[in-house]
Amino acid sequence: MMAKNNVITTKEFVNSSIAEVIGRTESMFQKDIAVNYNELQAQIKDKSVLVIGGAGTIGSCFIKELIQFYPKKLVVVDTNENGLTELTRSLRSSSDLKVPEIYLTYPLDFGNVIFERLFKAEGPFDIVANFAAHKHVRSEKDVYSIAAMIENNVLKADFLLKLLKENNPKHFFCVSTDKAANPVNVMGATKKLMEELIMAYSEDFKVTTARFANVAFSNGSLLDGFIHRVSQGHPLSCPSDVKRFFVTPSESGQICLMACILGKSGEVFFPRLEESDLINFRRFAEVFLHQLGYGLNICLTEEDAKIASKKSLENNYPVYFFESDTSGEKLYEEFFTETDELELTRFQGLGVITNAKKSEIEEIEAVVNRIKELFFLEQISKADIVSTLKQILPDFDHNETGKSLDQKM
Ligand SMILES: NC(=O)c1ccc[n+]([C@@H]2O[C@H](COP(=O)([O-])OP(=O)(O)OC[C@H]3O[C@@H](n4cnc5c(N)ncnc54)[C@H](O)[C@@H]3O)[C@@H](O)[C@H]2O)c1
Repeated sequence: MMAKNNVITTKEFVNSSIAEVIGRTESMFQKDIAVNYNELQAQIKDKSVLVIGGAGTIGSCFIKELIQFYPKKLVVVDTNENGLTELTRSLRSSSDLKVPEIYLTYPLDFGNVIFERLFKAEGPFDIVANFAAHKHVRSEKDVYSIAAMIENNVLKADFLLKLLKENNPKHFFCVSTDKAANPVNVMGATKKLMEELIMAYSEDFKVTTARFANVAFSNGSLLDGFIHRVSQGHPLSCPSDVKRFFVTPSESGQICLMACILGKSGEVFFPRLEESDLINFRRFAEVFLHQLGYGLNICLTEEDAKIASKKSLENNYPVYFFESDTSGEKLYEEFFTETDELELTRFQGLGVITNAKKSEIEEIEAVVNRIKELFFLEQISKADIVSTLKQILPDFDHNETGKSLDQKM
């Protein structure tokens, strides 16, 4: 099964799909960047920057926004060697981007002694931004995958913070997610813990974070999957009842850059999206296929959709819509909770949470040690870990249905 036209992997195609569904042709942060341009330039020009997880969707978009303000040195760390290669090709091939004078990429893990050596040898850094994480709710299947997620999102962040305490950057940013607000899945709970962890250091050096919405077509997302499905001749599968806020990839880089540089220590930035901006994934499926020249052949089961994808397509593409019934799914999204204090006048497109919880470092270390002790036990289950997380995070309301996204198409 072939796509009706072959433009599906072009940037223009993705951008026009996003623009049609989200309804924005220019960044929702354009004005904020223009107003704060001089300050961004003053803080970035000729500075030394470390970006961790910089080969990923948001990290690479952050880099593309950052280098427009001419840092002198950029060090990028990511375990994804291929992703780093593509990042470098993309930066060096782009006519409107200037790669910094010193540009170094390292395919390594930020949570070990090799990173520590690199950090000490290449530092000190004026700006450090971390985008490395496990981000999929689908990854939280069992005790092993949950332990790996906590290790990456919490324990390695702890390791990094201790290094930063000895070598204070002027700006430290670590990306969070809207799933950290009233978390219902382990991924959101690990990000909430990560937020509490970084905030505990906000008196020692400047720490900021951002919670935001789905980045349209980001690596591994449902929409990114649509591109892969069509190029491989597979049917689309899409929840019919889940609504999400979306930002574009470049908007995701801009939110993080503004939080990192313009935020005050301890602040959490979020995009000012209204309930009317929530988009049902179904709409993306419709526009995506329409852009390819297709209508929808709605199939009632996964099996029907697979059979339909083997037949001649004519004008309609097989799609299986389902109602969400997997563990840890929120049917809506939120960036802040009832107890958060908000500042909504400083920026046009961004809101700021100003009263994030700031624990003592000793208090948060006790939490980290409790998790480490749990990991050392020979017999631990997913339920043990979830129960410990619930004790640590009273707002964590895990919704276990016994079903994971990995059981679906
Ligand atoms: N994509 C979204 O829609 C979205 C929305 C809001 C928040 N976020 C958050 O932003 C972060 C990044 O998201 P993304 O879409 O850019 O993900 P991504 O998977 O594209 O990028 C993450 C990068 O981090 C790297 N990485 C992971 N663990 C590492 C480690 N231990 N050491 C070094 N590198 C490591 C990965 O190789 C990858 O390149 C995640 O924490 C996610 O929760 C994402």
